[in-house]
Amino acid sequence: MKLRDDKPLKKNVYHGSPLTAPPPADLMVILNRHRGQRDALITVLEEIQHHYGYLPKNQLEYTAQELGFPLSRVYGVATFYNLFQMKPPGRYQVRVCKGTACHVGHSSEILSHLEQKLGIGEDETTPDGLITLQTVACVGACSFAPVMVVNDRTHGRMTPDEAWQALEHLRAEANKELFR
Ligand code: FES
Repeated sequence: MKLRDDKPLKKNVYHGSPLTAPPPADLMVILNRHRGQRDALITVLEEIQHHYGYLPKNQLEYTAQELGFPLSRVYGVATFYNLFQMKPPGRYQVRVCKGTACHVGHSSEILSHLEQKLGIGEDETTPDGLITLQTVACVGACSFAPVMVVNDRTHGRMTPDEAWQALEHLRAEANKELFR
């Protein structure tokens, strides 16, 4: 088809709503566990994040659709609490503890050192997708303050330089894997 001035008409392809497909089975396991529980939205989102590592947009839409919550409420809760992540985390989730004992042990210096070295701020991920930098309030290892947690591993009595060395080590390991 051509327009009146003989320019070809651009085709706009409609790909349809992603929700026309049924929700994935692993998500349904979580949703079915809480079906009918009107006060379980935070728990549902926690479980989705635990399963996927973050809150994927489609899964939030399925949650609203399947559990009968307005989508605005699901997004409202997901974006209100900073424990929820809307973007996929880096391979290594680095959390600097900001609890009282770690704060007294100058954990804020560790955080600023890592921010400066990595070139990212809190809750951001390095462009190579390797490291997400976050903070956490007390991980129960106060006697080792100041503490940094990388994925599930706790690094105690850190200095800013030691924290950076630990991350450099992870980066070197990841690079080695790339060339294996
Ligand atoms: S305050 Fe950091 S581990 Fe408790």
